[in-house]
Amino acid sequence: MGAIERVLITKEELNKQVKEMASRISKDYEGKELVIIGVLKGGFIFLADLAREITIPVDLDFMSVSSYGNSSKSSGVVKIIKDVDTNIDGKHVLIVEDIVDTGLTLNHLVELLKTRGPLSVKICAALDKPSRRKVDVQVDYKGIEIPDEFVVGYGLDYCGKYRNIPEVCILKKDVYLK
Ligand code: PRP
Ligand code: MN
Ligand code: MG
Repeated sequence: MGAIERVLITKEELNKQVKEMASRISKDYEGKELVIIGVLKGGFIFLADLAREITIPVDLDFMSVSSYGNSSKSSGVVKIIKDVDTNIDGKHVLIVEDIVDTGLTLNHLVELLKTRGPLSVKICAALDKPSRRKVDVQVDYKGIEIPDEFVVGYGLDYCGKYRNIPEVCILKKDVYLK
């Protein structure tokens, strides 16, 4: 695709990361009631990969939230577009995200879900961009650390596009600066 500067993380690297995380999750939650909450839209591809490598029974649900809209900068306001319909009272919750950037989205979600009586709330994110963090969030299953570049693919978008690229790619600057 013409908008792509270069591939940052290959399919193979992503696959390896997914397998390692799924194996840890399967061990850690063995014998426990786990509800996995995928955060749409960005989290959908990672969750689909991760869920299929998890070897214990889990409930899956989704929330749809947005803080970036069509911009390349976080608005800081996390809008809940769709909530889960699973009762998480007395259950363990694992939130699955594509990326932790400023941390605002996950911070908000953790606080919200904690008010609903879960036994625990943990986070699993495919990518981590620590250089941009604004709030401290504990990411229990932390994926691949990336530099402060605007990335797309593997669920991540720019203006709704490029989520379907199978690798994590750096977007050309002139695409989002113009
Ligand atoms: C992106 C990304 C994470 C969040 C991370 O979602 O998918 O959910 O931003 O950024 P933060 O740590 O700075 O909050 P976005 O708001 O773009 O919605 P989308 O998943 O529908 O693309
Ligand atoms: Mn998102
Ligand atoms: Mg987005």
